[in-house]
Amino acid sequence: MKNIDELKKDIEGLDTKELLEFFLENYDDKIALSSSLGAEDQVLSDMLFSITKSARVFTLDTGRLPYETYDLIAQTNHKYGVKIELFFPQNKRVENYVNTKGINAFYESIENRKECCNIRKMEPLKRALESVDVWITGLRASQSVTRDDMSLIEYDENFGVIKLNPLISWSEKDVWDYIKENKVPYNELHEKNYPSIGCAPCTRPVKEGEDIRAGRWWWEEPIHKECGLHKKVGV
Ligand code: ADX
Ligand code: SF4
Repeated sequence: MKNIDELKKDIEGLDTKELLEFFLENYDDKIALSSSLGAEDQVLSDMLFSITKSARVFTLDTGRLPYETYDLIAQTNHKYGVKIELFFPQNKRVENYVNTKGINAFYESIENRKECCNIRKMEPLKRALESVDVWITGLRASQSVTRDDMSLIEYDENFGVIKLNPLISWSEKDVWDYIKENKVPYNELHEKNYPSIGCAPCTRPVKEGEDIRAGRWWWEEPIHKECGLHKKVGV
């Protein structure tokens, strides 16, 4: 397997789609996009499926996603003639959590919230990434204070995979220009002031002038607003 520095040289000067072509060619079924069906992920899915319908895209179905996200999974599958893979949390762990702590215990403490994210997102993500060498995400640096030191390509020590963030330097406008120009299906909640969409109980619309992630875990400080998926080791 090539190391990060070699890969960085190989991809110098490539645009986003060429970058994805390069990785699909070199990693075949050992590369997958984790998609929350958010605007960024839909851009990447569109690019990947236009290269090959066998590109792998998976979603962590926490069991608490908004109805609109489920509709978009179905719509995306239909439009591209594909099947987004779904990964579920382990039923025993969810049952134990909700029966001991409560169905909405994540509002009560950061600890409870992180435990819920661990059970419903982290463990399924770990399983999903067992079969890949390269993990593609829709992260953008300008999304939040916790993401401004992320790069296009990095080694993810938590999951032991190469992490590729093709949209890292894209702006929100770049994302929406691409969506409109290419008629990419998107979550209808984006039209209702939800710029960033996660689980239904942990996402609300943002108010005029608020940060794009202000509606995620709105009861917590910005520095805590990560579910662990994109946490750096030691941070
Ligand atoms: S989160 O960590 O705060 O939930 P965010 O919603 O901004 O993440 O999405 C950032 C990236 O994390 C997405 O582009 C996607 O790659 C991945 N991601 C987030 N949620 C999911 C999910 N439910 N299923 C698959 N991938 C996800
Ligand atoms: Fe649980 Fe909320 Fe995390 Fe979803 S975002 S896994 S509901 S705490």
